[in-house]
Amino acid sequence: MTSDSLELVFATHNLHKVKEVAAIIGSRFIIKSLSDLSFFEDIPETADTISGNALQKARFVFSRFHCNCFADDTGLIVEALDNRPGVYSARYAGENASYEDNVRKLLKELEGKTNRKAAFVTVIAVIIDGKEHLFEGRIEGEIIKETRGTGGFGYDPVFLPAGSELTFAEMEESLKNKMSHRAVALNKMLEYFAK
Ligand code: IMP
Repeated sequence: MTSDSLELVFATHNLHKVKEVAAIIGSRFIIKSLSDLSFFEDIPETADTISGNALQKARFVFSRFHCNCFADDTGLIVEALDNRPGVYSARYAGENASYEDNVRKLLKELEGKTNRKAAFVTVIAVIIDGKEHLFEGRIEGEIIKETRGTGGFGYDPVFLPAGSELTFAEMEESLKNKMSHRAVALNKMLEYFAK
């Protein structure tokens, strides 16, 4: 397979993620969004694992459009919360919770806890010519006590990657894109398809 010009539909409605992913792998793959296909319906995401959700979203788009596509699913895993919110990270504070609601709930649950260890885990499910592939990326870090920074999205303002003085929300996008859970998974995907 020549990966240089391969067109891939990204099974997400999150334009922030489309931009982030295109910045990481856009020179090797042509990333199309669901808006490019004029598709605005919700994509089912009902599995109880991160990889299950990534596969479910990719399979959904593949079955609808029969195109090469991929989906990602991410969870924030917090040690002191028995690895919650995990697969439920988007809906941690309730079905229609905003990023701010989720961060508020997280800080509240961690109040008084000394163990602040956390990790982001991303699984990318890719379907090319009908064949499924999974790639996982993980980054370790900790949850700080109050928000810092205005960049990124989701839990970025409270996630301090191990060895960094800046939260994901304080970093230049290009720095986050070098080290993030999503970047690690995407780079594994790039490496695989470069073979
Ligand atoms: P998703 O599966 O990629 O939609 O991610 C689920 C939830 O995890 C999102 O709603 C965000 O709250 C959070 N999340 C995913 N990726 C990131 C990230 O790069 N930074 C911070 N939060 C993230």
